[in-house]
Amino acid sequence: MERNRWYKDAVFYQIWPRSFKDGNGDGIGDLWGVLEKLDYIASLGVTGIWFSPLYVSPQADYGYDIADYKAINPEYGDLDVFQQVLDGAHARGLRVIMDLVVNHTSSEHPWFKESRTSRDNPYHDYYIWRDGGRDREGNPTPPNNWDSLFEGRAWEYEPAIDQWYLHVFAKGQPDLNMDNPAVRAEVEDIMRFWLDMGVDGFREDVITFISKVEGMPSDHLMVPGARGLRFYENGPHVHEYLEQFRDNVLSHYDCMTVGEAPMITPDKALPFIEEGPNQTLDMMFTFEHMCADCLFTDYVPLPFNLRKLKGAFSKWQKELDGKAWNALYIENHDHPRVVSRYGSEAYRVESAKLLAASYLFQKGTPFVYQGQEIGMTNTHFGSIDEVPDVSAQNQYRNRMASGAKESDVMALINRAARDHSRTPVQWSAEENAGFCPAGVEPWFAVNPNYHGINVAAAEEGEDSILNFYRKAIALRRELPVVREGSYKEFKRVSNELYVYAREMEGQRLLVICNFADHETLMRPPAGYDPSLGELRLGNYDDAPGTRPDGFLPLRPWECRVYVYE
Ligand code: GLC
Ligand code: CA
Repeated sequence: MERNRWYKDAVFYQIWPRSFKDGNGDGIGDLWGVLEKLDYIASLGVTGIWFSPLYVSPQADYGYDIADYKAINPEYGDLDVFQQVLDGAHARGLRVIMDLVVNHTSSEHPWFKESRTSRDNPYHDYYIWRDGGRDREGNPTPPNNWDSLFEGRAWEYEPAIDQWYLHVFAKGQPDLNMDNPAVRAEVEDIMRFWLDMGVDGFREDVITFISKVEGMPSDHLMVPGARGLRFYENGPHVHEYLEQFRDNVLSHYDCMTVGEAPMITPDKALPFIEEGPNQTLDMMFTFEHMCADCLFTDYVPLPFNLRKLKGAFSKWQKELDGKAWNALYIENHDHPRVVSRYGSEAYRVESAKLLAASYLFQKGTPFVYQGQEIGMTNTHFGSIDEVPDVSAQNQYRNRMASGAKESDVMALINRAARDHSRTPVQWSAEENAGFCPAGVEPWFAVNPNYHGINVAAAEEGEDSILNFYRKAIALRRELPVVREGSYKEFKRVSNELYVYAREMEGQRLLVICNFADHETLMRPPAGYDPSLGELRLGNYDDAPGTRPDGFLPLRPWECRVYVYE
């Protein structure tokens, strides 16, 4: 099929269903709630929705553990209401992409239940089963020293067959054996099922992990916690398998794909996304810019470093230029809220708008995560019992076991937990933030700041973060330079300023962001005299011009977007 690459004009809104909107009054977000909010989503000016998993799941990892790929989790609705959502979205000009989670299933998936019953079961080889060893006392020991990223060791013992299964994530998420052609045929079948129903593509969960190095050797290089990772990250057959999915399925539909790719570098990404006959994914979710205040993971925190953030942004803009397409995001369901990380809660409104401007005008397809558009912030967890996520629980357990002080561990959880982005969306100042009816207990505590921070209040304020997002998205869609232009960064060594331009024949755009709680002076870049440009967007009421000494004064967290035509 001839591809028109419609995704290059798209802006996506990500829904994490459990916390988006409860439509049937049981305290859990669902598709009835989505139906109610389709007009709101369309009002943002976005052109698509990415649904985090909606499928049947025991929710060990909130839907990223799937027990039935072709049915909707009953808490969220059923296929009929999904079809209504899909039709309603399409009627509003919104495409819909699904989360495709095929590195692993749930341990409750019928394939896995069969798989663990005997070595001869036809489903046995759907998963990665290995023999282990015995220690001196005769107890079984795992096949290698790999760690799970979420829960202890990467192997779990099954006494019934005296074998171990691999789970790179939680115990309830056994890895599929993608080397088995029958498993790949199942993946094709799942893709066709949703594409035939009318969905427009997939966000492919940890897709770069699906192929493991043969022999799966123990890892003596990595630090405990991540042992094994280098043997399945960007593994030996990943391209071959994605080519198969492309040729047999994706290329027959007018759809798009975005692959999640932890730790990916541009050299490793290009073979997937470079436009041409070998391309297997339209774009990738990369991670470097999500590590501007940490080392590889949110759980190794460092002070926020603007130069690291800018370096990551600019590196990907440059390295993919003219070759491949970027996926742009600063928030999702796996990280704390960005205002609380890279912005400032004290300057919440200003910094939320600045963060929007910092990425929405880059080259690529932007994704906005639910609640990001109203500047939702991190919450506070008083104890680990208030933190539902399996990975936070695991971090807590490991650190407590190694003798850390509880208060230090909770401080880290409060800094790093991805649960922060999973509190219910704050719709109004009513009880439960309008997420679910008054008197019903929401599945996860609403952030107490909902009285001031909510959609209804943001709708009222002309200068709200919400309306800034609307203006920024509209501007992005209006200006061809945002889709086509080249990218240029200025003030690269500044610890306060992020300044970038987009340039094409006849149209240029300059974005200025002052990442600081104080005033910063900037000499405008050559060719970008503010008095000659048109100020199209800003986060203060006025925009004082360049002073007689040639400096442009920028107030705390001020951002401006100028267009030159
Ligand atoms: C991806 C998802 C994350 C999930 C993990 C395992 O990183 O975004 O939420 O826990 O994969 O499926
Ligand atoms: Ca519900």
